[in-house]
Amino acid sequence: MRIVVLVSGTGSNLQAVIDAVASGELENVEIAAVGADKHGTYGVERSAAAGIETFVVNFKDYADRGDWNHALTEKCLSYAPDYVVSSGFMRIVGEEFINAFDGTYINTHPALLPSFPGAHGVRDALAYGVKVTGCTVHIADAGVDTGPILRQEAVAIEDTDTEESLHERIKVVERRLLIATLADLAQGN
Ligand code: GAR
Repeated sequence: MRIVVLVSGTGSNLQAVIDAVASGELENVEIAAVGADKHGTYGVERSAAAGIETFVVNFKDYADRGDWNHALTEKCLSYAPDYVVSSGFMRIVGEEFINAFDGTYINTHPALLPSFPGAHGVRDALAYGVKVTGCTVHIADAGVDTGPILRQEAVAIEDTDTEESLHERIKVVERRLLIATLADLAQGN
């Protein structure tokens, strides 16, 4: 199973996937490429260090969102992936991308969707005061963190939690769910 992984930041969840592929925990999975929407991400840097092909389709280089979306779609298609994984990719993709990867665009989100979608899922859950949050792996459609849910797990919020401490605890679970999801997909499940 060939995957392209899209990142916008540190890519710590991506690193867990890289490690799982390297150790053989994720059998039959090949990371064809890792791409970002901007220059200078640690996610791309660590992928290159691991010998993985990388690319940047820099959002700021395009006149409008449609042009950027077209370029991203073409770039991802060039790797002929079975799945594209958004792992901390913080841009909304458009219809052209979703149509090209219909049902094969996977996203992870640090909240129990449909609660707290968007760029600040952890912060928003803390601000609301919920006592339980979690993470979601889902097939992404054209909405913001919407689409059929594949896996989900709860994480309790402690009174002493900060956004950072809670996000780190969520990410530990998120990595496990992402790897389990990719293993399922690689087995045709
Ligand atoms: C992850 O928690 C992911 O769920 C989140 O960004 C983090 C990336 O961490 N994505 C979203 O919030 C998408 N709405 P990482 O770069 O360390 O893997």
